[in-house]
Amino acid sequence: MSIFLSQKQRDFVRCRHRYCAFIGGVRSGKSFAGTIRGIKFARRKGGVGAVIAPTYPMLRDVIIPLWQRLLPAKYVKKYSQSQHKLWLKNGSVVLFRSAEKPERLYGLTLHWFHIDEAATVERKVWDVMLSRVISTKGYGFLTTTPNGHNWVYELVKSGEIAAVFAKTTDNPLIDPAEVERAKKVLDPKFFRQQYEASFEAYIGQVYDDFAEGNILSFSQDGCARNFIAADFGWQHPTALLWAKVFPDGDIFFVDEVVEPHLTPDMIAKIVVGEKVKLPSGRIFAAPVVWADVEELITGFEATQTRQESGGFAIVDLLKNSGIDRIRVVGGAIVRGIFSVRSKILDAAGRRHLFVSPECRRLIADFRGYRYPEGAGNSSAELPLKDGIHDHTMDAVRYLVMALELENKVWRI
Ligand SMILES: Nc1ncnc2c1ncn2[C@@H]1O[C@H](COP(=O)(O)OP(=O)(O)OP(=O)(O)O)[C@@H](O)[C@H]1O
Ligand SMILES: [Mg+2]
Repeated sequence: MSIFLSQKQRDFVRCRHRYCAFIGGVRSGKSFAGTIRGIKFARRKGGVGAVIAPTYPMLRDVIIPLWQRLLPAKYVKKYSQSQHKLWLKNGSVVLFRSAEKPERLYGLTLHWFHIDEAATVERKVWDVMLSRVISTKGYGFLTTTPNGHNWVYELVKSGEIAAVFAKTTDNPLIDPAEVERAKKVLDPKFFRQQYEASFEAYIGQVYDDFAEGNILSFSQDGCARNFIAADFGWQHPTALLWAKVFPDGDIFFVDEVVEPHLTPDMIAKIVVGEKVKLPSGRIFAAPVVWADVEELITGFEATQTRQESGGFAIVDLLKNSGIDRIRVVGGAIVRGIFSVRSKILDAAGRRHLFVSPECRRLIADFRGYRYPEGAGNSSAELPLKDGIHDHTMDAVRYLVMALELENKVWRI
């Protein structure tokens, strides 16, 4: 069987760096190129390799069929479906694993690994895999479409990993007319990211200093104060964020609920700490019961009456349910954004705002919250109220502003 690779795929498959990445648009041939590079390593005698996909269905439906298609049967000794393990006649072994539980990847000793769609998995997966190839001086590579300024971007930018960039149209099998059609319906930044593999797509990001350093599992409670930061919606989601604030001003966001169609009654149950089934089906119990929460902090909109809540304001309904420690903050959005920015990274290069890796929505929103196209990153502009990223971002701002005001008032 002869296989022809596109120029970009060839550059990647032949890349001699120990760590390298194929950063490609959708359908640019990423998984194909990654599989060919994996096969190249598997054909070396006696090595052990691992192929990681973000989820098990992606392994089953994309990666394993590609291996079946591209690795000639004459090299294969056996394949175990229950173990997702492939033995080659040359003595080498390939393990297929999902990235959903990174801790399960510990304990392997590997000569090479491939992570497909790496930008959608946690950085921890990359770190764990690196630790698995240290003793063998092995190789690691990833294939992915960019996803904002996340860890893949940081690895490429810092030069820790060599990168080949490919647009969707670099795959000769893709009909350019199809790409042109997508261009007409997608927002330009999203198009550049998805089809042109551009990390630039996130110029105009409001919190562009938000980086891996802001993502941290919360470990010790100590003397933290607990708050809930909230932004209420109906068709648009309600965002509830549980935050721990330390005396030095560091803020840790430890849990989140971001869902549309939460009734005031349901919100009250969530806030007090009852175990509830959310409209999405998620079973949730707050990490901190209301008795231990100092205040729920929200914006002025929460004091306005709303049709969906029978003509009442959400703060009044919550107060009726016994949630009486509510602080409503106002103030200019632009100023609030400056305060949040300095929590994310101060001028001395220190970070004071941290998000637990489990708060996936909040992390995605920090990365996706943007100024409108053409705004030139101007600090006088307001970010886009896109109905997606703005809810958690409003809640974060309310909390940061409330804490800032607190510092300005004398307390006796
Ligand atoms: N060198 C090649 N020779 C033959 N077919 C190829 C080649 N490269 C890619 N393809 C085909 O092009 C299509 C897209 O390739 P692939 O699935 O690898 O792209 P991808 O970038 O991983 O796509 P996605 O964004 O959907 O994950 C597939 O049908 C694949 O089989
Ligand atoms: Mg793919």
